[in-house]
Amino acid sequence: QELEMKLEALEKGGYEHFMLKEIYEQPRSIRDSMRGRLRPNSDQVELGGIRDYIKKFVNAKRIIILGCGTSWHAGLVGEYLFEDIARIPVEVEYASEFRYRNPVIYEDDVVIAISQSGETADTLAAIELAKSKGATIIGICNVIGSSIPRATHAGSYTHAGPEIGVASTKAFTAQVTVLTLMALHVAHQKGSITNQRLHRLLIELDSIPDKVQKVLDQNEKIKYIAEIYKDVHNALYLGRGYNFPVALEGALKLKEISYIHAEGYPAAEMKHGPIALIDEEMPCFVIAPRAGAYDKIVSNIQEVKARKGKIIAIVTEGEKLIKEMADHTIEIPDTEECLMPLISVIPLQLLSYHIAVMRGCNVDQPRNLAKSVTVE
Ligand code: G6P
Repeated sequence: QELEMKLEALEKGGYEHFMLKEIYEQPRSIRDSMRGRLRPNSDQVELGGIRDYIKKFVNAKRIIILGCGTSWHAGLVGEYLFEDIARIPVEVEYASEFRYRNPVIYEDDVVIAISQSGETADTLAAIELAKSKGATIIGICNVIGSSIPRATHAGSYTHAGPEIGVASTKAFTAQVTVLTLMALHVAHQKGSITNQRLHRLLIELDSIPDKVQKVLDQNEKIKYIAEIYKDVHNALYLGRGYNFPVALEGALKLKEISYIHAEGYPAAEMKHGPIALIDEEMPCFVIAPRAGAYDKIVSNIQEVKARKGKIIAIVTEGEKLIKEMADHTIEIPDTEECLMPLISVIPLQLLSYHIAVMRGCNVDQPRNLAKSVTVE
């Protein structure tokens, strides 16, 4: 047993938990997921795994993205990316709902199935259903040779390396990285993106690992904020546009490992319900970088403050206005709006991690949850 413990400590590479190790691995896992695919100098994206299916993408009238849990959140970012950059309509579906509701599937649909483990039963069954209707199935998976990549026509692996912590972190950013490359590749082939924008985005994408590192370097400040909010019973996560899925993912991370009730919302929807919950007990984590609907999110912050809610804002470096309004701010490097989720999710992962540790929770193996759900 002593040997087992030593082995585990070795596997954790000096970190207290797998989750923390995996959060810190993200500059590398994002880089690994781009390696050989991103060619910023030649303005090219190479995705060998889908080469034979690129025409299907170019001609697709619709993309359906399937996944569960965190993979579904990555899929939502994929929706924004494919519509924004490749101009293809996208539907994002929980695999478990899709498979049971007699969905309309066309032969020229392209289905993207996202799964870290490649073994999620609902996702696999949804793929089989779509395949039986003649759709093209593209996988984005992390575990090589697992069931889902074997069931798809083609795909591109995320190269995040083994993810042990039940709460997904580096798999999420790797999935978003591959979705970004895919959307850029398809857009380039379709001609729906100008060379200028493609060039700018590729250069920027190449700089994301370093920017993620800059967020990780603020761990101590994030831990300090975690200490202040560790005993709350509820939390609200707000974001708009590309950062709406990040709000959902931030809330999921907190729920999963700290057992604090948390909800993610598109910030503009706050007035249709969640605003009723706001009082001095309610912390709101707001993703409010400069890129995107900045002015709108500033007014959402004002609405929360007017009701005495607490604001913890994720802001762009050098931000002034929100700093004056918020109770706490965490600064992140600026980037293109469509790449922001890769950076803005990082402080939320760290916040959840620290809060859970401070509450004495088993962060790597939270109660009632499994790393891969191979049953319905
Ligand atoms: C479980 C895990 C989550 C994961 C989800 C989907 O619920 O606890 O972390 O996001 O399954 O798993 P997959 O392997 O298909 O991405």
